[in-house]
Amino acid sequence: MQYGYFDDDAREYVITRPDTPWPWINYLGCGDFYGLFSNTSGGYCFYRDARMLRLTRYRYNNVPVDSGGRYFYLRDNPAQSADLQSADIWTPSWKPMKSSLDRYECRHGMGYSRISSARNGLAFTQVSFVPLEDTCEVHKITLTNESEKDKSIDIFSFIEFCLWNANDDMTNFQRNFSIGEVEVHGSAIYHKTEYRERRNHYAVWAVNVPIEGFDTDRESFLGLYNGFDSPDAVFAGKAGNSMASGWAPIGSHHIKAQLAPGESKTFVFVLAYCENPDNQKWEKRAAHGVPGVINKAPADLLLKKYSAPEAADKALNDLNRYWDDLLGRFTVDAEDKKMARMAGVWNQYQCMVTFNMSRSASYFESGIGRGMGFRDSNQDLLGFVHLVPERARARILDIAATQFPDGSAYHQYQPLTRRGNNEVGSGFNDDPLWLICGAAAYIKETGDYSILEEKVPFDNNEELADSLFIHLKRSFDYTITHTGPHGLPLIGRADWNDCLNLNCFSAVPGESFQTTANFESGVAESVLIAAIFVFAGPDYVEICRRTGRAEEASRAEKAVASMIDAVNKHGWDGNWFLRAYDAHGKKIGSSECEDGKIFIESNGFAVMAGIGLQDGRAKKALDSVKEHLDTPYGIVLQQPAYREYHLELGEISSYPPGYKENAGIFCHNNPWVTIAETMLGRGGRAFETYKMICPAYREDDSKLRRLEPYVYAQMVAGRDAPRFGEAKNSWLTGTAAWTFVSISQYILGVRPVYDGLLINPCIPADMKGYTITRHFRGADYHISVDNSAGVEKGIKSVTLDGRPFEACAAGIYAGAFVLPVFGDGKVHKVDVVMG
Ligand code: GLC
Ligand code: GLC
Repeated sequence: MQYGYFDDDAREYVITRPDTPWPWINYLGCGDFYGLFSNTSGGYCFYRDARMLRLTRYRYNNVPVDSGGRYFYLRDNPAQSADLQSADIWTPSWKPMKSSLDRYECRHGMGYSRISSARNGLAFTQVSFVPLEDTCEVHKITLTNESEKDKSIDIFSFIEFCLWNANDDMTNFQRNFSIGEVEVHGSAIYHKTEYRERRNHYAVWAVNVPIEGFDTDRESFLGLYNGFDSPDAVFAGKAGNSMASGWAPIGSHHIKAQLAPGESKTFVFVLAYCENPDNQKWEKRAAHGVPGVINKAPADLLLKKYSAPEAADKALNDLNRYWDDLLGRFTVDAEDKKMARMAGVWNQYQCMVTFNMSRSASYFESGIGRGMGFRDSNQDLLGFVHLVPERARARILDIAATQFPDGSAYHQYQPLTRRGNNEVGSGFNDDPLWLICGAAAYIKETGDYSILEEKVPFDNNEELADSLFIHLKRSFDYTITHTGPHGLPLIGRADWNDCLNLNCFSAVPGESFQTTANFESGVAESVLIAAIFVFAGPDYVEICRRTGRAEEASRAEKAVASMIDAVNKHGWDGNWFLRAYDAHGKKIGSSECEDGKIFIESNGFAVMAGIGLQDGRAKKALDSVKEHLDTPYGIVLQQPAYREYHLELGEISSYPPGYKENAGIFCHNNPWVTIAETMLGRGGRAFETYKMICPAYREDDSKLRRLEPYVYAQMVAGRDAPRFGEAKNSWLTGTAAWTFVSISQYILGVRPVYDGLLINPCIPADMKGYTITRHFRGADYHISVDNSAGVEKGIKSVTLDGRPFEACAAGIYAGAFVLPVFGDGKVHKVDVVMG
């Protein structure tokens, strides 16, 4: 069953009924100001940090779901009478009143959403977005009288302010109920809680027309015992002009509009974050008995700008052009429209969102807990670096600054301060290696080696600063100096799998599995970290070589070789790669185990790293993955699922079978298998694994899958779960970056490498061909791939700008076709014939 469809020309997903199986959301904003926006206008917004600078309140896990947002209530009044009872009162975004609508549609596009609806001859459109240049949400509302009679309409807007710190806002009521403050000036409602003390910022919610009245006190507007679906003020047809004092400050405008048949009226609402320098906070300081008046200069400037609807239209146009340009950097045209729209549009869009949000704010991440992740952000940039390389560069330097001098790292850091998060601390032993992956991806995309010479603090301490290159070296060395009895890397608190907590041994409810270490074994080892090392190591070697560090390169090369040895000797189980050794030295992910015999991560990553390609083990491992872990909805994390809690394994065994890391389809690691399959040249199987987790292929299964068909989810319930096939945690997942890498670089086969663009498709035999445009280091490559030969891999010929182009004769890319770097701002035509 579908709840909408893709409009590919418009790059929009069109939701055709409001009661989707879960709120289907979009992200507004791509700089400093962000809004989460659901298909019924629910959600919230914040400036830079979802926890610390939250503008609007959101009630998590509430009943009904998705309560709170930017709401508009319409009162369609009877023509003549003053009979208040007979007015038609409804909410055009369906929620919060769940009004029955004659028409409804929500279009989620690139950084904007548009809700259109109609009832009883009154049409409504709301276009919501965050302009590129301003720290605000714009909501452009248009009402149209589609009836034959005059209409007299009351419009009430509604938002609820958050008292800035979203965590405190939800918990600290003994204080919060006394601190709320507002000002109202004309059509602008200012939220200035805590401005009198340590804040230099306020929020403003304004509309570009004169208003009839307003409310700023929630109780006055709603009525103490009412929900959002029955506000007293709307039913009374009159705002109360209430001034909040403590309790819950809100912003509601009351506007009257007369509409002749066929007439339309437009209103521009703006919800903005404004800051003043400390010495210019006040227009008038507080006097005895008279409250201070805030300096509204920054708000005035912004509101003036959007006072004309044309300004909002222009800002939306600019946003569209921005996305045209970004998505123009990698485009796909193919017969398989689902693949083309995901790879060309939605997957890249999601990569932007994961890059911006890390794992902080979604409808599953509350925005109050987690900061930017060391491992997550490094992986996120793999799918983002081609879009805005400069931002990836800055991010790499921010991340590196939270590394410790010994190469280990804070697991998370706070986006506002860019400092490591002490509460979560360090000791996730895969973390350091992801920095090498991130930096290598940036250099391959840009050719900019100068990043290696940037001075970057260790532990956020300028005195400990050294070059980024030294950071990479410390990452590399951390792994080889922290190995266990089998010469494999020690796992520490966890590796990529947060829930494989082999030194935790927690028996106390509520303890964090990741930060509790009751058992310093010095024994538990991770085959996955070994594989990540073998995958990232050669990049470190290559970077050394290309920057004149030949000796370091050969030292590193030897270290990689001995890690491969260790995996060969102690990381192979006979039919697949082992996953780990526990704190007692017992195998995990072995046929000897009762549960958890085979895991996806070590198998995908080891083959991706090239281990076992020569001797048949790679093929054996991937065949075993298919045999034991495949489901129609993706590959599960392990089998059999753990049936009981194991003290020595930690959180992984805490989940009911089939969910999350306990045999859920944890999509993030599926593309590792996809990439691994391309290493074997099995294009059919690679594409099959790509499609299994790709949401566009499950669009007509939306009732079961439940989440947005246009974005990847972190997890789909595995076959051991009662709700097999149901997805959770959409949007903020490393799946976005890795699937983009798998489809763009390994299946469609256009991969940035140090010397240029390497072309090496690996596709199903029945895929006849496709075209790609790729912007790369200052030139555009128009690549068309012809597979009329019906092969899965292999190139018969390449023609570049009309001339035959040869494969590299020698060097690390010997035998491969690597298109040169042109950097000439021109278009270069590339014809690839497979065979
Ligand atoms: C979540 C975390 C990520 C981790 C994964 C597996 O997605 O954000 O860091 O690797 O879970 O546990
Ligand atoms: C990851 C895992 C989750 C775990 C969390 C801990 O997100 O998916 O299961 O609880 O990490 O930080």
